[in-house]
Amino acid sequence: MAILVTGGAGYIGSVTVERLRAKDESVVVLDDLARGHRAAVDPGVPFYHGRVGDRALVASIAAEHPLEACIHFAALAYVGESVSEPAKYFENNVEQGVALMGALREAGVRRVVFSSTCATYGETKQIPIPESSPQSPVNPYGWSKLFLERLLDSYDLAYGLKFVSLRYFNASGATEKRGEHHDPETHLVPNVLAAAAGEKREVSVFGNNYATPDGTPIRDYVHVADLADAHILALNYLRRGRDSVFLNLGTGRGYSVLEVIECARRVTGRPINVRIEAPRAGDPARLVADAARAQSVLGWKPATSDLPSILRSQWEWKQKHPRGYGPA
Ligand SMILES: NC(=O)c1ccc[n+]([C@@H]2O[C@H](COP(=O)([O-])OP(=O)(O)OC[C@H]3O[C@@H](n4cnc5c(N)ncnc54)[C@H](O)[C@@H]3O)[C@@H](O)[C@H]2O)c1
Repeated sequence: MAILVTGGAGYIGSVTVERLRAKDESVVVLDDLARGHRAAVDPGVPFYHGRVGDRALVASIAAEHPLEACIHFAALAYVGESVSEPAKYFENNVEQGVALMGALREAGVRRVVFSSTCATYGETKQIPIPESSPQSPVNPYGWSKLFLERLLDSYDLAYGLKFVSLRYFNASGATEKRGEHHDPETHLVPNVLAAAAGEKREVSVFGNNYATPDGTPIRDYVHVADLADAHILALNYLRRGRDSVFLNLGTGRGYSVLEVIECARRVTGRPINVRIEAPRAGDPARLVADAARAQSVLGWKPATSDLPSILRSQWEWKQKHPRGYGPA
């Protein structure tokens, strides 16, 4: 039986497909390529170009490849865009997500691993953030993810669907073959490395007056390969018939924006110019995971998520793929 990976041509999805294949898992990818790259998926992996809300398509995939589980990555994930175009986010992430879950139900798929996010917490008082922290998103992107979490919880209660909802903190880094390529790129690490490579004159730092030691926001960076491995552990956890669960995926250690830039200067040996800009609305000062539950429930331990390893891996990928996967 196969695992349906939605959004498998995207950044985290494509690395997860790579790791699943390395473990001889049978995988089928569904992606509309709105934000992903066909070249990020090996030609040997069955690939369906379409939207997750296309119930007929999902039914025909399930007919062709009996599905054991779904790992649901597919979503739009730019916080700023979700604020200016909320309708797009509720249509793509919620409406399409509801339709997908309906099609999976009809196909008898009872295991789901879901890409959730620390953005479901909003402004939190408690740092590091435990899963029990109140969830009150500060942008439509976070709400769209929280809605799917609520749906999964209700479907478990009513229909016996079992799920692991993984609340990622900041995905970053690369494997030898796959890395982060978005257009536009809103994440810090690829932007810092673009400045190191001379593709940008400088890197923008949004606000330097936060209540942190150097005044810039602190985030918890997790290597994409460690994230991918957590999905495989989650899948095996569900295969053992265990209960649904919400888990943070982070390291428990935060770095400020200026610390990331300083570390990138050391790793790349290049100068990186900084431009201080106005703070962005809805950017909390600190987002750091309490990651103890993922370790105790899944036995997940990030192996390569120290900041120099993250930056080195993404820098090496960038040197080998200066244009990423080609034109986005
Ligand atoms: N990158 C992070 O730091 C981060 C943090 C927390 C959560 N997440 C979540 O993880 C998931 C993957 O993130 P990513 O950084 O790899 O994003 P990405 O944009 O690189 O990948 C998402 C993929 O989903 C596809 N897609 C989007 N909507 C679709 C639809 N309706 N039908 C079919 N395909 C669709 C896109 O084409 C893309 O290939 C997302 O759900 C995101 O919200 C990411």
